[in-house]
Amino acid sequence: MGENKSLLQLEGITKIFSRGTIDEVKALDNIKLDVNAEDYITIIGSNGAGKTTMLNLIAGVFPPERGGKVIINGNDITGLSEYKHAAYIGRVYQDPNIGTATKMTIEENLAMAVLRGQTRGLRAASNKQRRELFRSTLAPLGLGLEDRLNAMVGTLSSGQRQAVALVMATISKPALLLLDEHIANLDPRTAQIVLELTEMIVRQEKMTTMMVTHNMELALKYGNRLIMMHEGKIVVDLNQDQRTGLTINDLVTAFEQASGRKFIEDKILLRR
Ligand SMILES: Nc1ncnc2c1ncn2[C@@H]1O[C@H](COP(=O)(O)OP(=O)(O)OP(=O)(O)O)[C@@H](O)[C@H]1O
Ligand SMILES: [Mg+2]
Repeated sequence: MGENKSLLQLEGITKIFSRGTIDEVKALDNIKLDVNAEDYITIIGSNGAGKTTMLNLIAGVFPPERGGKVIINGNDITGLSEYKHAAYIGRVYQDPNIGTATKMTIEENLAMAVLRGQTRGLRAASNKQRRELFRSTLAPLGLGLEDRLNAMVGTLSSGQRQAVALVMATISKPALLLLDEHIANLDPRTAQIVLELTEMIVRQEKMTTMMVTHNMELALKYGNRLIMMHEGKIVVDLNQDQRTGLTINDLVTAFEQASGRKFIEDKILLRR
């Protein structure tokens, strides 16, 4: 894969909710973003900045306003169903219960993820072959889940569940992995474990990844590119060279210069 191969292009992406009502909100405002293959982008921004809306839009939950374009792997998928988008995308949410089916076993959950994916070889594999694959995928996580394939996901700890969600999102090797504050609901220790698992999987699979976080330290530490959003716009976009050596204070300054707004007012600082 070429170093700067474009994997995802967003062009002229605007998203307006509740148009024509007093609740009208422009959640995304003419976003342009070019994600290269193997980019690992961390995304920060205050509450309501449009981060989740951007991921939803990439995942095809809803289309952009007229004129916007979503291109993935060279295919224009604008306006196609969420199901069509799903072929390219793995996703982990903030709430572990959203990514997994709690009343099904680990094995059933992973089997479901395989069926959703596009990897034909995997879909055609026998139950035994699949079980082997599940075991060998879970074992390196170091959580002992490979020996608990028949355990109901609902009986796992939230960290273990989020680890299963991560494996489900990546087992079919999607072109793009979307993580929306996927460690935010976990206690610090578990969050660290899930973050390290994320690193391991992203590195091993060379997966193109977009990770939303409220933690500026993590946003600087992980990935190779950092994006800051504000009022539906991308106001800061730093590549690896540009963000190397930056401190949280530098980020705050960059935000203030780009948005023309004092950062101190933002909840993001309080959540640190
Ligand atoms: N389905 C929806 N219907 C109406 N308004 C919405 C919807 N989804 C998001 N919004 C609005 O769009 C704006 C952007 O929301 P979004 O959830 O993308 O923000 P965010 O950056 O993810 O914030 P947070 O950090 O709180 O998760 C907000 O004003 C929000 O209220
Ligand atoms: Mg959000």
